[in-house]
Amino acid sequence: MIEENPFREEDLAIRNRPEPCTLVIFGATGDLTHRKLIPALYNLAADGDLPVGLQVIGFARREKSDEEFRAGLEEQNRENSRQDHNDALWETFSQSIFYHQSTFDDSEGYIKLNERLNEMEEQGGSPNRLFYLASSPDFFDDILLHIRSAGLNQPREDGWSRVVVEKPFGTDLKTARHLNEVVNDTFPESGTYRIDHYLGKETAQNIMVLRFANALFELLWNNRSVDHVQITCAEHLGMEGGRGGYYDKAGAMRDMIQNHLLQLLSLIAMEPPIDLSADGVRDEKVKVLKSLRPLTGVKSVTKNVIRAQYTADTVNGKEVAAYRREDRVNPGSMTETYVAMRIMIDNWRWEGVPFYVRMGKRLPKKATEISIHFKDAPEVLFNALSGAETVPGNVLVIRIQPDEGISLGIRSKLPGPSARLQPVKMDFRYQTAFRKSSPEAYERLLLDAMAGDATLFARKDEVETAWKFVDEIEDAWHKAEDPPPMAEYPAGSWGPGEADDLLKADGRRWRRL
Ligand code: BG6
Repeated sequence: MIEENPFREEDLAIRNRPEPCTLVIFGATGDLTHRKLIPALYNLAADGDLPVGLQVIGFARREKSDEEFRAGLEEQNRENSRQDHNDALWETFSQSIFYHQSTFDDSEGYIKLNERLNEMEEQGGSPNRLFYLASSPDFFDDILLHIRSAGLNQPREDGWSRVVVEKPFGTDLKTARHLNEVVNDTFPESGTYRIDHYLGKETAQNIMVLRFANALFELLWNNRSVDHVQITCAEHLGMEGGRGGYYDKAGAMRDMIQNHLLQLLSLIAMEPPIDLSADGVRDEKVKVLKSLRPLTGVKSVTKNVIRAQYTADTVNGKEVAAYRREDRVNPGSMTETYVAMRIMIDNWRWEGVPFYVRMGKRLPKKATEISIHFKDAPEVLFNALSGAETVPGNVLVIRIQPDEGISLGIRSKLPGPSARLQPVKMDFRYQTAFRKSSPEAYERLLLDAMAGDATLFARKDEVETAWKFVDEIEDAWHKAEDPPPMAEYPAGSWGPGEADDLLKADGRRWRRL
């Protein structure tokens, strides 16, 4: 029998303990707070993992009482909580949530917030302050400057102050550098937690365990045994909930590849870290990003990166509009909703092994997975039999979501007198192995920020290095005189034919999800 909470014991063994604090959320009336942050805290409370004494202050523009704020949060918690909403628990939990009304550019609002925090602390509240920037990134500068001028970042001697910064962290290298400067003027790097919620996903965390707690895989984890790697992030959603305005300025490359997918790639490709400290791990991840072969200029980008937009069609039987017809999207938009690319890592381990990465909106389903395709066994003996070449070889699949798990595809003998080969799978599923749902990414990340553990957050140089790589592609798309073409794919399909051709040119094809 497994323990009631399989994650807790193991967590405590390798992590600092989360400390109570006052969590101030800037942008508290927004979607993120309602759909992710508060449900994450609620679920931590339900599991008994929330540090006793935690208080939350929501900071936002609209006039609201504490009760009104709590009522809105409750409604959304019912819909978005991982575990069932329990009225009695909510009642107790919500008593520690308060509202603070102010615009982001009003220094008075921050001074009052400081007074309020001091008062709460004097009355026995925790002296620790955790600021969460969950507003639109347009306000990050203002908020950080005001936090500094109001002295909010100066905790009492027995407390700490930290900041969590939501994505997007800049829109290119220049803006990311600027934001890093503004953040580090107010908080030291050791107190800065840049969110990439993919790092908080249980399955993403398990990549390192799979690689470094098992001798089996690591021996094969290199260019002698691996033919290529595929990383796919498919989404069936398009621009629901008024996202078009933001998305049309970002696109798939900035929205998902620069952060989530390059983070997954780093975890797959990194060397073993010297230890499990935040910097031990991040030092190795950043080395991978620094080893990415730059894709510079139109020729190289055309050859290695496919961009595309969806056209009107049906997804799961429902008719949907073309990207250019979506709400708040420019009808002549040149923003990509799909990217497929070939990435080479110029280091000792991965020389010659392509990493194919793709992400798209309005694909047939939501699924993120990484597959490691091993080289074939020699074409002698069973592999020399006729038809053997059509049987897939060894593929290790890490399903990040949904149906989280890991499977290994192997060739087996079909029962019977003939020596025919059949592909079979060894499969590990989280649901079956642990019999409970994994915590949401934000649950883990909030706890880690309270514990002062930055391992699952992006470091300054990681973010900047990733932007440097992405900027060159964006430049070829948007600044060149003769930019690479924009392909199209029908909504509900697996992307444009050009993405298939990218792999075909290398004698490979995308794995079917
Ligand atoms: C966000 C992107 O960071 O991640 C969204 O801005 C995307 O466009 C989302 O839909 C996907 O996250 P998840 O956890 O649902 O895979």
